Amino acid sequence: MVIGQAEQRTGERSAAPLAVSTDGLSKRFGDRTVVDNVALAIPAGAVCGFVGPNGAGKTTTIRMLLGLVRPTSGSGTILGGRLSEPASYLNKVGALIESPAFYPQLSGRENLKVLARLGRLPLAAVDPVLERSGLLARAGDRYRSYSLGMKQRLGIAAAMLAGPELLILDEPTNGLDPAGIVEMRSLIRSFAGDGITVLVSSHLISEIEQICDHVVMIRAGRLVHQGPVDALRATQQAEYLIAPEHDADRDRLARLLQEAGCTVLPGEGAGVLLVQEGGLGAADVNRLATQYGITLRQLGERTRSLERAFFALTGSKSADVPDDQELGAIR
Ligand SMILES: Nc1ncnc2c1ncn2[C@@H]1O[C@H](COP(=O)(O)OP(=O)(O)OP(=O)(O)O)[C@@H](O)[C@H]1O
Ligand SMILES: [Mg+2]
Repeated sequence: MVIGQAEQRTGERSAAPLAVSTDGLSKRFGDRTVVDNVALAIPAGAVCGFVGPNGAGKTTTIRMLLGLVRPTSGSGTILGGRLSEPASYLNKVGALIESPAFYPQLSGRENLKVLARLGRLPLAAVDPVLERSGLLARAGDRYRSYSLGMKQRLGIAAAMLAGPELLILDEPTNGLDPAGIVEMRSLIRSFAGDGITVLVSSHLISEIEQICDHVVMIRAGRLVHQGPVDALRATQQAEYLIAPEHDADRDRLARLLQEAGCTVLPGEGAGVLLVQEGGLGAADVNRLATQYGITLRQLGERTRSLERAFFALTGSKSADVPDDQELGAIR
């Protein structure tokens, strides 16, 4: 497989071949550039999250990868085939983009049989993908009776029919309830280790960070970050949720920590502070409080989330990142 130039430019020394690489990929609609000089480098076998705020250019990029939109400029290689010749690789690619069209009166199984016949695929391929997507028990029910989550999973089953090497899913969790999101996550995660490369887009990194081992972030059409999720997580500062024994000590404690170089935000709950380490470890935080006669009733490290990195890189805002005004009480 051809190793794209993009891999060299990211500085990664990974020897893994790339399932998708692009170079200078751009799309203009009229005088608006919506995808701008994007160099993707997605390792084969990765479950790769493709994240960016609404309108960042995710769907347009995906459409270019699938030969549905012609790039204004740039080149690429997908599964060894050239981006400019989609027919050379599309038989190895499965995709779920927007809501797929199925016959409402037919069952899930019948719908897949229709697709199998159209694609000249063996009908025996249908039940294994239904099982894989957790739909076998409901395969005989009419499509119109399916929940949104089941409809999405049928879309994935359809994308899997031809046994693709690359699965591209555009916002598969969109509109799903929390239970549906969990089911969708575990289905996507189950592809890891199968040797299939998965590219899954979302405008919320929190929805997909648990299932991805690689991440590509875009903002306003530009690539702002790509690489292994672990590496990005390691760049995240530790965060602690702490609370003094007496709520009245909260503001004094916040000031002490700020003077020591920490960023301090209000935490959830009375008296609770969210502390971004600023070089201090948990023991240092505890020692500092004790030194000034403040006993802590709570000191716990928060799971390092990629959300902050994502918001910093993409410039989006999150409900759990208070803006400056909300911090006024502590500053
Ligand atoms: N056919 C088109 N003609 C003109 N502009 C378009 C077209 N398709 C997309 N755009 C514009 O390109 C930009 C990127 O859109 P795109 O759908 O790729 O973003 P996205 O990251 O998928 O967003 P979302 O998270 O909302 O799905 C948007 O400003 C959109 O309005
Ligand atoms: Mg989109």
